[in-house]
Amino acid sequence: MITKNYTASAAVFGALFCLFAGSATVAARGSGKVSAADGLQGESIYRSSCMVCHSLVPPPKVAPPVKGLARHYREAFKSKREAVDHMVAFMKKPDASKAVCQEEAIRRFGLMPAMSLPESDLRAVSEWVWDQFDPAMKPGDHKH
Ligand code: HEC
Repeated sequence: MITKNYTASAAVFGALFCLFAGSATVAARGSGKVSAADGLQGESIYRSSCMVCHSLVPPPKVAPPVKGLARHYREAFKSKREAVDHMVAFMKKPDASKAVCQEEAIRRFGLMPAMSLPESDLRAVSEWVWDQFDPAMKPGDHKH
């Protein structure tokens, strides 16, 4: 019994440790490359083109909140670069079979409309979305 509990909490600790270690590495890498100006640009694109549907935090408007998206993308991709590439491609041509969000999100909200923004804006806003990941947010907090 004691051994079992110990094993379980060690596993939880291990998982949390990986999560924090992983996000610290990503944050360090991100801050080295992305200048503050890119972050501001990403946020202002979000405000003008995405916020109408995506709130930053729950409750959702008509689409999953940004912090939930960031969590899903961090779970699905190892690097910011891969995640940003995928997000940009998805926004140009949303496709349910390529969605990182669960099917449930698409059933509930419908498929996102294609974004007709320049590639550089799509990249800047995707990087900004990735950076909104909040390790303090528990998986259940972003229930769609
Ligand atoms: C008209 C409403 C609307 C606008 C505007 C909008 N979205 Fe979405 N978005 C949605 C809906 C609905 C979903 C959930 C269904 C889906 O995945 O297509 C979604 C899903 C997503 C996803 C998850 C895709 C996946 O892999 O599952 C990302 C990332 C995203 N939006 C980013 C953005 C960004 C960044 C912008 C602004 C440039 C934006 N969205 C603008 C409605 C919108």
